[in-house]
Amino acid sequence: MGRDTVLGGRYELIERLGQGGMGTVHRGVDQRLRRTVAVKLLSPALAHDPQSRARFRREAHAAAALNHPAVATIHDVGEEPDPDGPRPYLVMEYVQGTTLAEALRDGPLPVAEAINAACAVLDALGHSHERGIVHRDIKPSNIMLAGPDSVKVLDFGIAKAFTEAATRITGSGAAIGTPAYLSPEQINGAEVDHRADLYAMGCLLYELLTGRPPFRGASPFAVMHQHLSAEPEPVSQLRPQIPPAVEAVIQRALRKDPEERFADAGQMRAALADALAQAAMPTVQAAAPVSPAPLRDGRTPLRERFRTSLRPSAQGALAVLGCLLSWLCARGELVETDHFGHVAVAAAVLGVVTLPWSARLSCAVGWGPVAEAVAVNSELRRANDGWDHSYVGIAALLGLTAVCCLVGAARSRERGGGSLVAFWFSATASVWYFLDDLHKLFVFYLLLSLVAGAALVWEAVGLARRRADAGRAVAEGRPSTWHRLVAGARPR
Ligand SMILES: Nc1ncnc2c1ncn2[C@@H]1O[C@H](COP(=O)(O)OP(=O)(O)OP(=O)(O)O)[C@@H](O)[C@H]1O
Ligand SMILES: [Mg+2]
Repeated sequence: MGRDTVLGGRYELIERLGQGGMGTVHRGVDQRLRRTVAVKLLSPALAHDPQSRARFRREAHAAAALNHPAVATIHDVGEEPDPDGPRPYLVMEYVQGTTLAEALRDGPLPVAEAINAACAVLDALGHSHERGIVHRDIKPSNIMLAGPDSVKVLDFGIAKAFTEAATRITGSGAAIGTPAYLSPEQINGAEVDHRADLYAMGCLLYELLTGRPPFRGASPFAVMHQHLSAEPEPVSQLRPQIPPAVEAVIQRALRKDPEERFADAGQMRAALADALAQAAMPTVQAAAPVSPAPLRDGRTPLRERFRTSLRPSAQGALAVLGCLLSWLCARGELVETDHFGHVAVAAAVLGVVTLPWSARLSCAVGWGPVAEAVAVNSELRRANDGWDHSYVGIAALLGLTAVCCLVGAARSRERGGGSLVAFWFSATASVWYFLDDLHKLFVFYLLLSLVAGAALVWEAVGLARRRADAGRAVAEGRPSTWHRLVAGARPR
């Protein structure tokens, strides 16, 4: 099927997106509605008898009735004549993003992120199960991260339609594609209900958190055998930071007997959200510094995190300027003491190092020596002019300004850097005017360490707050800070 192929006189195939166990997926254009769609062309071998094709149509029609933000909508179903026999195809919503299988190539996901994704999939499954539709093929390649707060589950209805055909073709029991997510009852060919999807969710969560599925083996049969009789290695052994409550959810989902699993998707979702909230985030913090989810274009979370923090901003530019000036102050002869040059260089370097993490912290450190140099030189004027009582008033005013700037800096991570620069100028000038000949440099060093320490505490408290926010968001099913981070919005 080439670029010029038009299916059903309507769906033009533009580009091949990928190939799976059941056929190929293309990006296409619905010429009638002029919208982009994804077209899954099934292998003729899967549907060579009319019964299979009829079952496929039936399942596709049932799945087309699903209407949920986390389900990739099915638009149409049809058949294309082919020398090897009619090829059924499915037209569905085109999802721009990356599959969880692709995201996993960069390693396991941060804990909160994995749980958020699993909760979204469970929402979709809850919706489909209520309508009597079991997915039967939940696995990372059938789930797409479509954006900051959007997960889409693909291929509803397909596995059921072709289970029998795949069995016949592959002769490998009920397995279609990889057996890593098959429940014991699917392998046994026993009655399958929605709890098979919950078992697959246990496998999925296991893999999202550890980077590998619960069972691995040299052959599909070895893996299937383990699904039937082996216990998976506890996730905490592979990644100790995983909260015990999350591990308990996975263990329950992976019970061999469906009766012992969660009763439904809603129950499993609630247990997951509770587990995350119970962990009160410290464990999650250790496991996963707040970071964006892997984006649909396949960038790694780490690279993306750096990309986000290094995005140009006014505060970042201010911080860089501060570090540069600090460096220049160290080299100049503005403050003639032995230590100042070293402290200014250290502040410049520290400012650059901390910039990717927090521009505010970088401003706090980088601008200190600059303000100090300015203040020292402003004092010269007073030294020339002599002492005047009006200086007390000026110093008090400058001190008040410094306090206001400090409060402003503490309140806003976004604009705090600018406030800190203003703080430094007003505070050092105030101290210099007021203290006259006392140990002014000592006071400055003290102030520098206090302000840097305070900025460090603000960052840590802000981080803890954002993580708590992510936990609450999971519990309430709304987008959290990490979602906003992925979206490129800056944390407050
Ligand atoms: N609706 C869609 N929108 C955008 N891309 C899609 C869509 N459906 C599938 N794809 C892309 O096509 C690739 C192949 O999908 P396909 O379902 O054929 O393979 P699979 O999930 O690996 O195997 P299986 O056939 O067992 O489902 C996916 O990995 C995904 O990148
Ligand atoms: Mg698929």
